[in-house]
Amino acid sequence: MLQGKHIVLGITGSIAAYKACTLARLLIKAGAEVQIVITPAGKEFITPITLSALTSRPVVSEFFSGRDGTWNSHVDLGQWADVMLIAPATAASIAKMAHGVADNMLITTYLSMKAPVIVAPAMDLDMYAHPTTQNNLQQLRSYGNIIIEPTAGELASHLVGKGRMEEPENIVRQLEDFFRTQENGTETSGHAVSEDLKGRRILITAGPTHEKIDPVRFIGNHSSGKMGFALAEECARRGASVELICGPVDRVCQHPGIRRTDVVSAAEMHAAATELFPQCDAGILCAAVADFTVAECADEKIKRGKDGMTLTLVPTKDIAAALGSAKKSHQRLVGFALETTDEAANARRKLESKRLDFIVLNSLRDEGTGFCHDTNKISIITADDCTDFPLKSKSEVAVDIIDRLCAIFD
Ligand code: PMT
Repeated sequence: MLQGKHIVLGITGSIAAYKACTLARLLIKAGAEVQIVITPAGKEFITPITLSALTSRPVVSEFFSGRDGTWNSHVDLGQWADVMLIAPATAASIAKMAHGVADNMLITTYLSMKAPVIVAPAMDLDMYAHPTTQNNLQQLRSYGNIIIEPTAGELASHLVGKGRMEEPENIVRQLEDFFRTQENGTETSGHAVSEDLKGRRILITAGPTHEKIDPVRFIGNHSSGKMGFALAEECARRGASVELICGPVDRVCQHPGIRRTDVVSAAEMHAAATELFPQCDAGILCAAVADFTVAECADEKIKRGKDGMTLTLVPTKDIAAALGSAKKSHQRLVGFALETTDEAANARRKLESKRLDFIVLNSLRDEGTGFCHDTNKISIITADDCTDFPLKSKSEVAVDIIDRLCAIFD
């Protein structure tokens, strides 16, 4: 997939610069031509000699070549590249990219770039989590840049694992996916790739939540995350930046346009969703969120006794209702309803009470539908309409849902 591809690899001044050697080596092994552009700070961490030996090309760093004074043309690089990959990207370089501070060769190359730009941030957690960095990253997303972040975060906190640069092997894999998507022009579902969500940011919740009873037990449900992940992939394929908030699931995101936040409980999902929704154009709430959590989680494992025991449960916060009441006029909100009886009436009640633009109904009474299946059978319900769809794969169902979402954007 990378055979013959021209890749400009930008390296900035991070301790993770050493990973750029592995990255360059893997890209070349996969058949790509790699031209390295490094910032002055990047050279403090890794020498141009090592990098030029790896790529068999002189490393570009200064505006003028030190040897003969010729001008290094960032414009030419911008036209030569099939993709520009900036890895590692420090908070400082991300800020310069976001605001056009063209004081080194890497930033001028970025500003002249005609090809897509993929950015792999690397910094410590506090710097990464700071609103300034998050705003700058969001700015880059709004320019259409793709941000690659580690996907293997711990389940406990939505920020654990973030800030660390993604491993070179995974970056190469995501780059291959990127070119595959570009070159195929069609997806596995057979639908043409459109860019109708380009520049939009979509929040998606997926998977179950786990409500802890004690250190070894929880209340959960059977959601596998398949439906939510299919929606995330479909949105990203159409050019959106996706904020995927998922409960404990054993799934991997494929598309680099998906930023994943792992959570465990309904309270954590609520906190992540309410924080991210104001910066999003739409929310799709596919998660099977627990409606109740235990009033008090025991610190120690609850011992078995002769008598039965009673757990006191209290309602969780309703994420859909919270986003529905915070929704601005430019934002759209889509919910799901998983029902066993009075399906349409119950779904309509949720549509209204949660201020949703439409609700996707799936019934556990339909064969091949709902939890864990690779297929789903849905109805899309609005205030005055109901469209039924036949049983389809979850990726095809995602196409139907996202088509409808695109149709209701202004
Ligand atoms: O993950 P899979 O195995 O692929 O299965 C997919 C699915 C069956 C989980 C999915 O298609 C689905 O139906 N998700 C919603 C399940 C659900 O919790 O439905 P509900 O009717 O209880 O909730 C209604 C809506 O409110 C949902 O959008 C839900 O995300 C939201 N909700 C519910 C409770 C809560 N505390 N906060 C919420 O936001």
